[in-house]
Order: sequence, then structure tokens, then C-alpha cells
Amino acid sequence: MDKLAIRGGKRLQGEIRISGAKNAALPILCASLLTGEPLYLDNLPRLNDISTTLTLLGHIGVQIALDERGGVELHGAALTRLEAPYSLVKTMRASILVLGPMLARCGEARVSLPGGCAIGSRPVDLHIKGLQAMGAQIDIEHGYILARAGRLRGARIFMDTVTVTGTENLMMAATLASGTTILENAAREPEVVDLADCLIAMGADIRGAGSDTITIQGVERLHAAHYRIMPDRIESGTYLVAAAMTGGAITLRDSCPQALDAVIEKLREAGAVIHCDHDSIDLTAPARLRAVNLRTAPYPAFPTDMQAQFMALNATAEGVGRVTETIFENRFMHVQEMRRLGAQIEIEGNTALVRGVEHLQGATVMATDLRASASLVLAALVAEGETVIERIYHIDRGYECIEEKLNQLGASVRRIH
Ligand code: EPZ
Repeated sequence: MDKLAIRGGKRLQGEIRISGAKNAALPILCASLLTGEPLYLDNLPRLNDISTTLTLLGHIGVQIALDERGGVELHGAALTRLEAPYSLVKTMRASILVLGPMLARCGEARVSLPGGCAIGSRPVDLHIKGLQAMGAQIDIEHGYILARAGRLRGARIFMDTVTVTGTENLMMAATLASGTTILENAAREPEVVDLADCLIAMGADIRGAGSDTITIQGVERLHAAHYRIMPDRIESGTYLVAAAMTGGAITLRDSCPQALDAVIEKLREAGAVIHCDHDSIDLTAPARLRAVNLRTAPYPAFPTDMQAQFMALNATAEGVGRVTETIFENRFMHVQEMRRLGAQIEIEGNTALVRGVEHLQGATVMATDLRASASLVLAALVAEGETVIERIYHIDRGYECIEEKLNQLGASVRRIH
């Protein structure tokens, strides 16, 4: 398995281009199942999770043509296997996003239950409950979700937990249902809005995406569309923290500042100076940042996917920072590894108290999940000496060409095959 070797102490400066958003691309790729006409997508990030999703869609019967400009054409004219096998779902739980579209378009679907994952149990009960409310017959047998339906019927669905992919799955299913569906307590993430905008380009009738109530008027069919995936706000946030921790100065191009208010606010509180244009972000940081307190919550509050990165920021900042994780029950896997680098972190329930130290020391550490791995890269950038991060396939799921982008900013990162 690949490793990353990082020599710390380099100040990051310069500019990089932000890739398309993984968590917008995943549901949007699955939207290709909703129509027999072609869906052309631009700005698709080159990530393992994207290739896993393309493999799954190909397995179902979608014709896929990648072009050299990072675009892809998907054509779901003839879907042959209405299933998502365990072998694919076990590597990526977001595979559950084929359930709603397959059921809405074809009336049946056989999707493996996603297992648990490093950051928590992550059930899909709200996805299932919502589809049942729309008239689906759903049984769970031998680890698979077996779903059948005539034409789905519009329904009023209240989700008692804010769920991003749950909102996306039900929104996609509702586009072809008969009548009106109202999703209440819906997720407001920008990636949900990006999916809604793509579905509207395909002929769907959706109102309220981005608010906590989304209304979908079902239509007979969706049609061909050409859509550009939004920039990745978590990739953007990760590089901003990297530059801030090294006392650097960077510019992000093709980014989405308007989707990063909570993160930019926290970075300013830590002492970074940030200027935003409509698709670029400039950051300049002092030699040492101030520790910040944060509490994760659904958008527009501070994103859980940036929690580990700010834990790394607090590890070498001035003072004590309090980090509270409210979304997932086990999203502190990076703490143990950061302690190996010399971080002073105490955990009390779902809150971590991080006492900033002047310097971390390089060591060998192990990645456990996508954003935890990213936080270890950030810590390694400021640690004395060399840090080797093992199992970096986690990182390759969500960060396109991470070593190239970091080295372009002056870091010293080497991939060991
Ligand atoms: C999405 O996961 C993201 N993944 C995650 O990003 C992100 O961390 C998460 O939203 C929260 O923002 C994608 O969009 C592909 P949830 P998702 O359903 O949809 C509970 C990354 O790093 N819940 O919003 O799976 C659940 O247990 C990944 O890119 C139920 O109880 O998360 C959790 O506590 C990691 N029942 C909470 O809701 C359900 O049916 C939020 O989960 C569904 C969820």
C-alpha cells in the first residue's frame, strides 16, 4: 500500500486550482440513472470514489465515456442489472445513492446495505423510511435492501435527523414520482443544491433546495443535460488550513468561497487574513495562529468534514482549542495518531481539548478515514523532520493529486509505492 513521506517546516505559498466536489459529483453521477438520455458532466474530480461510482454505474448498465478534459458522458438508456453488489458498496457507502434513482426509473433495486465505517454506524434507515412513504415495498434480506415499487407516489416526509445523502436519495426518487413530495428538515449542504440544479437542468421541478424544506413536483421523464460540478469546499478548506498552519500565503482558484462561510470565519478568528472573490480565495497567515473553539453541525454551521483539519490547526496554535463533534459518534480517530506526533489532546465524550505546542515531531502514523488522513498530512507539514503516513488510499478517495498540489505550494511530499 502507498505511503506519503512529508518533510515538515516549509511555508506554503503560491496558487492551486480546486477540483470538482466529490460530494456533489457522487449523487450527480447517480442521477444519470433517472433518464434514458445522455448526461454530460464537466469538472469531475479524478478520485477513487468517483471511479468506484463509475464502476458501479457501469455494472448497472450505464454507458460511460470519459473525455481527456476531465468530463464524462453517462448514458443510462438500457439498465441491465438493477443492483449494487456488496463488493462495490463495501468500499464506498455513498453507493446507496443508486437506490432512489433505480427505484424511481425501473421500479426495483437490490442494494447491499453499507457496512459501518470508521467514523460511525451510519445507518440508512431514513433513506428506507422515505422511500416506503413514497409507496416502495422494502425488505432487508441477507444484507441486501430489496426494493420494489410501481410508480412512486409523492409524499410529505419529515426526516428526524438531517441527512445529506438521505435528502439526495429521496429528492432524486421524487423527481419521477406521481404528485408532489415535500422533504422536511432536509439537508441544506451546497452539494444538495448542486444536485438539485443538475436535476432541474434535466427537467425536474424542484423548489427550496438549500433550505430545510424541499418541494419536488414529479414529472413523467427527465431529459439530456450538460452540467458542471461545483468546486470542492472541503478540499478548499483543507488547503486553506494547510497554508494557515505553515504561516503561508496562498490563492485558491476555481473555488467556492460562498460555501465556506463557517470555515473562513474560523480561520479569521485564528488570525488568518482572507480575501474572497467570486471563485477565488486569498489567505495570508501570521507566523503562529491562535487556537479556536468549534462545534460541528449541519450546514451552514461548521462542517464535520473540516473537524479533523482544525484539530491539526489547534495542535500547534497558541492556547487551548475546544473541538466538539456532534454529527458522528466516532470521528476522533486522528487524535491517537496526532498524539504520536506530539500533540497534547484530551478527549471528554464528544469534545477534544487541544493544547497547542510550539512544535510537533515527525513520526510514522496511519490513516484511518478520509478527513483524519488529511489532518495527519497537515500536522506533518509543520512537524520537525519527516513524517510517514501509511494507508493513504483513504486520502486518494477525496483529494485529487494531493502531493502534486502541496509540492506546487512549496511542500516536500513524496509518495512511496
Ligand atoms: C455525507 O455523508 C457526506 N458524504 C459525508 O462526507 C459527511 O461527513 C456527512 O454527509 C455529514 O455532512 C457524502 O455526501 C457522500 P448523513 P452521509 O446521512 O450522507 C445519521 C466525506 O468525508 N443518519 O448526513 O452518509 C448518521 O448516522 C464524507 O466526504 C441516520 O441516523 O451523512 C449521522 O449521524 C464522510 N439515518 C447523521 O445522520 C440515516 O438514514 C448525518 O449523516 C442517515 C443518516
